[in-house]
Amino acid sequence: MQDTIQVLDKTFVKYITDAQIQEAIRKVAEQINEDYKDDNPVILITLNGAVFFAVDLLKQLRIPCRITCVKLASYSGMQSTNKVQSLIGLTEDLKDERVLVVEDIIDTGRTYSHIAEMLRDTGLRDMRIATLTYKPDAYKLELPIHYVGLTIPNKFIVGYGLDYNGYGRNYSDIYQVIE
Ligand code: IMP
Ligand code: MG
Repeated sequence: MQDTIQVLDKTFVKYITDAQIQEAIRKVAEQINEDYKDDNPVILITLNGAVFFAVDLLKQLRIPCRITCVKLASYSGMQSTNKVQSLIGLTEDLKDERVLVVEDIIDTGRTYSHIAEMLRDTGLRDMRIATLTYKPDAYKLELPIHYVGLTIPNKFIVGYGLDYNGYGRNYSDIYQVIE
């Protein structure tokens, strides 16, 4: 019997387990601890989806760091829209800071490009991005992605912070839509 859930009008099947997610996060944390060992970066979390990843990742960081949040929205239902909206903007002074952006998913990259744009004139020292999941077949940018937890096919997923029209974030495993 397959492990399925219903979110609104769609059915999803369990795709990545909690244990696999935690193992992927452990590896990303290890790299970040090494790469930033002489620094104290600002961790920029994108609300709402990346909160789950950020909490588990941050608990494994052994470097001095601060956190700040922005809220962006680009998705409507299961489609990425061309327009990314800044619902809550930047509040922190990032001058001369190393900024590590934490994302739940990089799909087309529009949100990432919006974040890069948002950070452009802040005078920051350096920006990197860590994403829990990455869909290389959907990605349309040249911007480098520095830390990837899990590389996944171009199919819609929910769970562990990822939503379908606001629902489905609250699962500790990740589920893939059944078409
Ligand atoms: P992008 O701007 O196309 O890279 O999409 C990034 C944003 O779209 C993410 O922050 C998510 O909110 C949303 N998104 C993209 N793919 C998925 C998915 O498979 N499930 C849930 N949300 C997704
Ligand atoms: Mg979303």
